[in-house]
Amino acid sequence: MSFYEIKEFLHPGLRDVNALMDQALRSDVPLLDSTNASLREHKGKMMRPMLTLLTAGAVGSANEDTCRYAAAVELLHNATLLHDDVVDKAGERRGLPTVYNILGGGPAVLMGDYWLVKSLKLIMGSREGWARVLDLFAGTLGHLTEGELLQMEKASKADTTEDDYLRIIYGKTASLFETAALSGAISAKADEAVIQALGAFGRNIGTAFQIKDDIMDYATSQEALGKPVGIDLLEQKITQPLLCALEEASPDEALRIRGIVAGLSDNPASAEEVKSFVQHHHGVEKAVEVMEKYLKNAVSCLDVLEESEEKSYLSELASFVGQRNL
Ligand code: IPE
Ligand code: IPE
Ligand code: MG
Ligand code: MG
Repeated sequence: MSFYEIKEFLHPGLRDVNALMDQALRSDVPLLDSTNASLREHKGKMMRPMLTLLTAGAVGSANEDTCRYAAAVELLHNATLLHDDVVDKAGERRGLPTVYNILGGGPAVLMGDYWLVKSLKLIMGSREGWARVLDLFAGTLGHLTEGELLQMEKASKADTTEDDYLRIIYGKTASLFETAALSGAISAKADEAVIQALGAFGRNIGTAFQIKDDIMDYATSQEALGKPVGIDLLEQKITQPLLCALEEASPDEALRIRGIVAGLSDNPASAEEVKSFVQHHHGVEKAVEVMEKYLKNAVSCLDVLEESEEKSYLSELASFVGQRNL
């Protein structure tokens, strides 16, 4: 089974999700409409709406509300990418120049707001249960902002601990995966215990997804990624591979490395020394082990489900997170 087989299985649902997104984004302001059209032409992997469709299918069947929530999840995800690329001053995403790169920070922030608001409107148009789902989305948005700001604060001090890192990646990424999984289960009216187990599945694969993203930033080639590599360290972000290496080092050496990270904005060339340090202590290999622990936890959350195709696809989605190179 591969990621593309899961996509194929979900094709009818994803087609409806894409139609809802296109409809939601239409505008008579030419700059907005043409930028939206170009962003829609270059879709991402659609991991989060796939998760929403699968959790609904695993407990019953996906319905119109499921598709609305799935579209809302993907709209919110894209809104956060528009904003994140301003925050990170990122020039490239999905192999193309970012909106920030082409139009600047102002338009990118405003367009992100537009996608965000369209996400919320889609939820409010659902048949039932939208208040609970809207509350989940609002919670996730708060976590996202907190995660990004905590990351900024920690980057300037280079004192990120494992607990800080977990809070940052929950806020930036895992919270939205959790919301994606929960809203699918809610739309299909699952029992509360099952809803909670699927939320935990989303949180665990979301955590693993961001750890994998952080591992890929230590890769030596950016070919498949469509975004530059080695950027996190230059932005003084201490992520899982470096945290694992720091744990192996003596307190003095760890302090010295943190000092180098704190000074990277003035002295970017010393990033090479930090990378060698990570390599020497097998930071990437150890980070892979941490990621795998979250994936294993995720799969065990599926025990509450009866056997179904969707259940096996959820488990397959977890393997994809561990193996992905895009
Ligand atoms: C990128 O997410 C942002 C992170 C949470 C690391 P994806 O890798 O899912 O982005 P697209 O939508 O597929 O481009
Ligand atoms: C995670 O941030 C994604 C969001 C908060 C939107 P990153 O900065 O790690 O993600 P990439 O590497 O830009 O995709
Ligand atoms: Mg970022
Ligand atoms: Mg970024």
